[in-house]
Amino acid sequence: MPIVQADRLTRIGTALLRAAGASDEEARAVAIGCVNANLAGHDSHGIIAIPTYIDRIKAGHIVPGAKWTIVQESPTTTVIDGHWGFGFHVNAKAMALTIEKARTANVAACTVFRQSHVGRLAAYPLMAIEAGMIGIATADSGRSPKIVAPFGGREARLGTNPISIAVPSDLGAPFYLDMATSAVAAGKIALAVSRNEEIPTGWIVDSEGRHTTDPREYKKGGALLPLGGSEGYKGSGLAAMVEVLCGLLTGLGFGVEPTGRHNDGCFMAVFNVAAFRPLKDFKKEVAEFARYLKSTPPSEGSTGVFYPGEVEHIRERERRISGIEIEDATWDKLRALAGEYKLAAELDLK
Ligand SMILES: NC(=O)c1ccc[n+]([C@@H]2O[C@H](COP(=O)([O-])OP(=O)(O)OC[C@H]3O[C@@H](n4cnc5c(N)ncnc54)[C@H](O)[C@@H]3O)[C@@H](O)[C@H]2O)c1
Repeated sequence: MPIVQADRLTRIGTALLRAAGASDEEARAVAIGCVNANLAGHDSHGIIAIPTYIDRIKAGHIVPGAKWTIVQESPTTTVIDGHWGFGFHVNAKAMALTIEKARTANVAACTVFRQSHVGRLAAYPLMAIEAGMIGIATADSGRSPKIVAPFGGREARLGTNPISIAVPSDLGAPFYLDMATSAVAAGKIALAVSRNEEIPTGWIVDSEGRHTTDPREYKKGGALLPLGGSEGYKGSGLAAMVEVLCGLLTGLGFGVEPTGRHNDGCFMAVFNVAAFRPLKDFKKEVAEFARYLKSTPPSEGSTGVFYPGEVEHIRERERRISGIEIEDATWDKLRALAGEYKLAAELDLK
């Protein structure tokens, strides 16, 4: 597997998306977002996704240069129609506006609909902590095909419906949660197929509802399982609530719409910490809390406790130096696209 530095990968992703019709701003937003996911260790949402996004542009499912319109608003709320633009770009603009509203109103929220995949969800709440605010984001895939079986079922009726919450702190690294409400993100199954690897029991069931470690069974009519194994009813409940916020509150609805166009409905909210207590004191205490958690004596076989977001921070530090491993199947797709767009020489991707 080739090992590639983050800036080269960003250059490749940006150039391919530009060639596929994205504006500079859109192409950079998507490529940086994907490479940030690789850096955080979430390869399922990294550069592997760019060939899929280009396929979606070709199919007319993603519309480069799409309008961005406010459908309804108040001083604290906004409903945004992304007109099938790149989720990375549409959602970042929505979060930026929500932060601006909270600068005067202290609390603000928005819903976003008709946008493509938003990628690694943490990207948006992490924008809020830069402004001294707590950021929350949830996403579902609207009425695009479902992939998670509700607890006790064997047919997919839910999305992977992620939740992310980021909190300002004095730590050297951001304190944030970023998780799918399924046992894993769907991209991790695709990644295991690309890497020819088995997956742990408890991630998927096959079309007959049997547990399996073969990631290929997922595409043959299987389903992802909700977060929580034998306590998966909690993951199932979280996923249902995310779907209410992102599918029903946005007006996207539930169930599956036959065209299968990917539609990441989002609900996001921000809270200005200074409206509750002095930001300086809060940030200091969050850092102390993280250290308190980390000082917990380890359980048997454990390497110790990590606060939310710490694992990603450690991976990013490592990968910025060592580079990012790209599975051969993804590299081949990037090379093929570079050839198709006559960029192979420019990107050194022959
Ligand atoms: N846009 C979408 O439609 C969509 C859908 C699903 C998932 N996603 C993204 O996929 C990515 C992967 O999600 P996931 O749930 O598979 O990730 P995951 O299972 O790695 O869980 C990540 C969360 O767990 C924490 N964590 C990981 N290891 C830890 C440890 N040892 N100790 C303490 N905390 C730990 C991380 O800090 C992070 O908050 C996320 O970026 C998510 O936003 C996006």
